[in-house]
Amino acid sequence: MKIIRAKNYEDMSRKAANLISAQVILKPDSVLGLATGSTPIGIYQQLAEWYKKGDIDFSEVTTVNLDEYYGLTPQHHQSYHYFMQHEFFDHVNLSPEHTFLPDGMEQDHEKECTRYTALIYALGGIDLQLLGLGHNGHIGFNEPSDYFSTDVHLVNLTESTIHANQRFFASADDVPRQAYTMGIRTIFLANRILLAVSGKDKADIVRTAFLGKVTPTIPASILQLHPDVWIIGDEDALSEIPKGAVV
Ligand code: F6R
Repeated sequence: MKIIRAKNYEDMSRKAANLISAQVILKPDSVLGLATGSTPIGIYQQLAEWYKKGDIDFSEVTTVNLDEYYGLTPQHHQSYHYFMQHEFFDHVNLSPEHTFLPDGMEQDHEKECTRYTALIYALGGIDLQLLGLGHNGHIGFNEPSDYFSTDVHLVNLTESTIHANQRFFASADDVPRQAYTMGIRTIFLANRILLAVSGKDKADIVRTAFLGKVTPTIPASILQLHPDVWIIGDEDALSEIPKGAVV
């Protein structure tokens, strides 16, 4: 696991965008696993800026997103479809046929989980998976549990996640209670994982997840076992990681 220290949010975004950009430049038909939330917004802006300057070309890239709320239409302003469209897809030359998210409106859970899992495997797996980190150690919407999940599944969101995400909704009552998410195995099979993290409020969970025990009660801790993980965090998020820590 490599831990890269960035000065601040902008620096974190630029460093993370550099890794994604290198992936796409070296392998133009890469499959990128993407995340939503506040953390990656700066990364998407930086990538869009480089695209506009002609430094990066997404025409052959395929993207698969980690998760989507259950019951929100793609047009709903808090859906992850909407987020991706407005924060990233609208600003680069990704082909719409090459961008995938779980279908939050599919009521047949088993059908949707099987479809999205099969789609990822049919693409040949993920070259680089971008992740954020939840305050409770979740990655995607894999919440703390007594086992590690496998493939795409429907989860019940925890109170902590509902509370954290209510800032995007009118009230906590409006936050969907369930979501489709890639499982831990789906994420773990990515060739390379890039976890971006920012802010003092994440410092404790960064230390617990990456210096503590590997346990499904802290889902992100499993990343300690992956052969190619890059944690890119700003000073605040990495403030509890001793300089020079070997992880
Ligand atoms: C988003 C996702 C979540 C977020 C995490 C951190 O697709 O899967 O795991 O990455 O909740 O969210 P932010 O970046 O808003 O702190």
